Amino acid sequence: MGVALPSQVRRRWFRHTIPLVILMLLLFYLCARSLRTLSGCGSEAQYCIPEGLLPLQIQQQLGTLQAPEREEPQCLGPQGMLSRMMRPFRASLNPEGDVELSRYLAGWRELIRFLTPFGSIFVFATREAFAKVTDLEVRVHGPDAAHYTSLSGMVAWEQRAGMLERPGIAPQDSAKSSGSRTMLLLHRALRWSQLCLHRVATGSLGGPDAGEQCNDAYNTALAPHHPWLVRQAARLAFLSFPARGRLLELACPGAREAEARASLARAAGTLEDVYNRTQVLLAERGLLQLA
Ligand SMILES: *[C@@H]1O[C@H](CO)[C@@H](O)[C@H](O)[C@H]1NC(C)=O
Repeated sequence: MGVALPSQVRRRWFRHTIPLVILMLLLFYLCARSLRTLSGCGSEAQYCIPEGLLPLQIQQQLGTLQAPEREEPQCLGPQGMLSRMMRPFRASLNPEGDVELSRYLAGWRELIRFLTPFGSIFVFATREAFAKVTDLEVRVHGPDAAHYTSLSGMVAWEQRAGMLERPGIAPQDSAKSSGSRTMLLLHRALRWSQLCLHRVATGSLGGPDAGEQCNDAYNTALAPHHPWLVRQAARLAFLSFPARGRLLELACPGAREAEARASLARAAGTLEDVYNRTQVLLAERGLLQLA
C-alpha cells in the first residue's frame, strides 16, 4: 500500500472540497434568505444578512442557476412564498364548482405562514385562524372524513345530521362549532386578507398608508362580526402596522417595487377567486347568516 504524496493529497482535497464549500455557501445563503423572510428581518435587523455580503462567485453561480429569460421574481418561483400559497388555494377550486377542503386548508396554512411576520395584527387575526384551520383539519382527517372532502359535501352532511347552528345564534361553546360555521369564520378572515393584500399591492403613493387600508378592510370584512373589545384591540394593532415598502419586501424579497406589487396583486387575485366561489356556495345554502 503506497502512501499518497502530499501534492496528490492536496489536489484531491481541493477537488473535493471546493465544490463542497461552494455548495455550503449556497445553502447558507438560501437558508439565510428564507430565515429572513420568516423572521421578518426589519424588526430583528441583527439577523439580517445584507445582500451585498454575498461572495461574487456565489452571485454568479446563482445567476447561472436561474433561466436567463425568466422574468418572474423569486416570490412567484416554485419555492416562492406567494406561489406556495397560491398553488393549494387554486387547486382547491375543483372542476365541479366546489371547494376541496384539504387543499383550502393547506392554502390557509401557507397564508398564515406568510402573514405572521407582518406583525401583531396578523398574529392577532391569524391566531384565531390557526385554531380554525386545525379544527377543520381534525374533521377532514377524522372518522367522518368521507363527509369532509368538499365544502358542499360538508354542509349537506352537517345539515342532514342536524349539526348546523341556527342563523344568528352563536354556539355557547365555540369549540363545538360545526365545520360549516368554522368555515364561514375562515371565509371572512380570507376576505380581509384578500382586501388588505390587494390594497397594499395597488395603493398609490400619496394615498392612505397600508395600515389605514388594511384597517378599512378589517372594518369591511371582520369588524361587523367581532365584539367591541376585539375591535378595539384590532384598532390598536393597526397602529403598528408595517409600511407598504416593508410589506412588499416581505411578500417578494429582493424584487423591485413594481414586480412586488404585481406579484402581490396576483396572489390577492387568487384569494379573490377562492373567496368568490366560497361566498356563492355559502350564500346558496343560506349560511352567511350564521353568527
Ligand atoms: C368576485 O366577485 C365580484 C362580485 O361578484 C366580482 O366583481 C369580481 O370580479 C370577482 N372576482 C374574481 C377574481 O372573479
